[in-house]
Amino acid sequence: MAEKPRLDTTRLQKMAQAYWESAALMAAVELEVFTAIAHGHDTVPTVAKAVHISERNAERLLTALTAMTLLTRENDRLANAPDVQRFLVKDSDRYAGPWILFTKPRWTAFGELSNRLRSPEENRLGAYVNFTVEDARRYHAATYSIGMGAARLFSRSVDLKGRKLLLDLGGGSGAYSIVATQTFPGLKAIVLDLPPVTVVADEYIAANKAAERVTTLPGDFTRTEFPQGVDVVVMASNLPQYEPDLIRLVVGKAFAALVPGGEMHLVGETLHDDRSGPLSAALWGLNEAIQHSTGRAHTESEVKGYLQGAGFSDVAVHPFVPGVLSRIAGRKPA
Ligand SMILES: C[S@@+](CC[C@H](N)C(=O)[O-])C[C@H]1O[C@@H](n2cnc3c(N)ncnc32)[C@H](O)[C@@H]1O
Repeated sequence: MAEKPRLDTTRLQKMAQAYWESAALMAAVELEVFTAIAHGHDTVPTVAKAVHISERNAERLLTALTAMTLLTRENDRLANAPDVQRFLVKDSDRYAGPWILFTKPRWTAFGELSNRLRSPEENRLGAYVNFTVEDARRYHAATYSIGMGAARLFSRSVDLKGRKLLLDLGGGSGAYSIVATQTFPGLKAIVLDLPPVTVVADEYIAANKAAERVTTLPGDFTRTEFPQGVDVVVMASNLPQYEPDLIRLVVGKAFAALVPGGEMHLVGETLHDDRSGPLSAALWGLNEAIQHSTGRAHTESEVKGYLQGAGFSDVAVHPFVPGVLSRIAGRKPA
């Protein structure tokens, strides 16, 4: 008879303590530990001095970061792991520190998750109710720090040659529009986002010298009338924030605004059809309980159904960032 696998609590303990790892990573970014190491402060005493903490605390933190494989240690010398060196050293052009701290303001709320799950409070705009320009500036420092990479991937994956006008729904910093109009000559783009966000998008557009190609339209994509003459619509990283009816509404509006032969791309965290994962999409869905929104994670087939239901043809799921983001696209029949 086959022996039953021995059960123990190791996996459960690890999950229960996982937030300690998040805290160690966020503290290291806030203290600029990885930047100090990149600048040659690569022993416990020199890191301690460079980031102004005691040697005892430096030893504690650096040991945890090494065990988390963010650092390597040879004798007394520390080094950043390759992804840390590329993305968490402050003077790197790919610095993604703001993204590491992006969800930190939700820390306390996640500590009260069971209460949030019991709460009946819900609103359509979720996290964006009472959003200020300052909130938008902090939020989009984070989305921009990883969004330009995703935007380059988008422009490599999709051929927009000959397209004239892209509507970027919830375009945030404008990253997708900035890169697409740089990549495809003749393409212009409109970033439709909430009024405080378009103030910030205008700053990124100006910083990238893209103002002649990319404009902004302040509004709410569930309510604001879409511009006409659009031949590409993109909606990136908005899926779990909205319930199915609202995504259907927005996809229907996009279909109506597109010229015949135009295309729509929904980029986002999607669940496998059996709702077994991936974890990232599942957690973004859970996060909507923290935001008091009506959103939830959607499966790939559900998203295909939203596009097909609106009238799109050739609807297909394309892998985008494997295990994290997919791109679901359709074409308005000519
Ligand atoms: C996670 S960000 C993604 C930004 C950008 N698409 C990217 O991928 O870098 C979601 C964006 O959608 C915007 N958004 C959410 N709901 C919106 C609505 N109802 N109308 C307009 N914009 C909205 C938010 O303000 C935010 O800028």
